[in-house]
Amino acid sequence: MAVKKSNYSDDKTNTWLDMRKMLSEFNRSLTLIVDKDLLLANAISKIKQISPVDKISFFLLRHDTDQFLLADTSQPEEEVPRNTMFNMKSKLVNWLSVNESYLLVSQSPSIVIYFSEQEQAVINTMKAEFIYPLKVMNRLSGLVFIGRKMKGNKFIREELDLLTLLLDQAALAFENALLYEEQSVRIKKMYRADRLAILGQLAAGAAHEIRNPLTAIRSTIQYLGKGMQDPDKAEMINELMEEVDRINKIVQGLLSFAKPSELETAKVDVDKLLQQTFVLINNMIQKQHVNVLYNIQTDDTGIIADPAQLKQVFLNIILNAIEAMTDMPDKELTITIENSQHIDLHSRYIIISFEDKGIGIGKEDVENVFNPFYTTKKDGTGLGLPISYGIVNRHKGEIEVDSQQGSGTKIMIKLPQPLR
Ligand SMILES: Nc1ncnc2c1ncn2[C@@H]1O[C@H](COP(=O)(O)OP(=O)(O)OP(=O)(O)O)[C@@H](O)[C@H]1O
Ligand SMILES: [Mg+2]
Repeated sequence: MAVKKSNYSDDKTNTWLDMRKMLSEFNRSLTLIVDKDLLLANAISKIKQISPVDKISFFLLRHDTDQFLLADTSQPEEEVPRNTMFNMKSKLVNWLSVNESYLLVSQSPSIVIYFSEQEQAVINTMKAEFIYPLKVMNRLSGLVFIGRKMKGNKFIREELDLLTLLLDQAALAFENALLYEEQSVRIKKMYRADRLAILGQLAAGAAHEIRNPLTAIRSTIQYLGKGMQDPDKAEMINELMEEVDRINKIVQGLLSFAKPSELETAKVDVDKLLQQTFVLINNMIQKQHVNVLYNIQTDDTGIIADPAQLKQVFLNIILNAIEAMTDMPDKELTITIENSQHIDLHSRYIIISFEDKGIGIGKEDVENVFNPFYTTKKDGTGLGLPISYGIVNRHKGEIEVDSQQGSGTKIMIKLPQPLR
């Protein structure tokens, strides 16, 4: 009697067994890795072990903007431009959220045609064949695009099963890593707020003690200088006054950091406020030959805020940017205003970012820039950013720094906007 031959030779069966073993090892290792980039690199290499593919791209959900941003890819820029993203309302995202399975592009033309033209174009340029929804507790948390197999063969059942197994595990691990990342950012912020509060109290005490004797010193020097005939001595008195004024400036800064004035809020147009700020420093911008690119991506720039205090924040940040570019050949400051809206429609924000091409900040110093008195400048007080941080915080907003030493700094301010 003829024995019915299995679809796969013993060799193949062994390979699938090996794969399963590799997968269970991968699963075990996933629980230990909390670094998102490491996880992504790991997942890409495992996919390549399962299937002979070289085009793999991962998009992960960013909770604050509800967009799926490119997280890692093995593809060149011309196939996957680095700013490729999908938003929650996209038809492709919608299809993957609702349907319980992956999509095989070449076998599902009737589905692909339902996507927007732009999405179809992206799928084409990416040369995607297998599109997989990463889900955690039935919620879409990422998208994976895998290209055709290198020899042009179709994906077979076992491969698809293994990829499903791998990607479902990876989805959980990414979620874990993301939560871990969010948690560490939260802890860092709490730590920063605590530290600033304590420093604030100390600073307020010191400033208070210094202010009264300083007023006395200043008026005494002024008195002594009045009848001074000797030009050398008059010069010395002048220098003394300058020094006293410098201390005064620091004390004022300390007091506004430690005991900020109440917010006097009104309806404010961020765009107009920035224009008014520029009037104050236009001379400096011209003199330093700074090229300012102003990029408004929204017509909705209204917020409720204290205009004088916000102007102080913008001024601090723009001055820092100009100072950071003093010795750079290509002086360019890009200011961008955009909106961000949560999918729940209960919160809206305006995001104002200032990106310079200055000297940048070293990785180990980024955390320090909000500490009072941290300065790398000869005449700096190191209070500009701590004061700005306090002001943005009192507006229930956030301020973030992203910097590359040697190439530039980006300061982002996120402020709540009233719902329309
Ligand atoms: N755009 C930037 N590029 C590079 N470094 C920056 C930038 N902004 C801030 N820094 C760094 O952060 C430090 C603290 O900034 P902050 O504005 O608080 O104080 P400062 O500018 O030194 O002094 P002051 O604001 O009193 O003039 C700066 O000395 C600088 O080292
Ligand atoms: Mg400053």
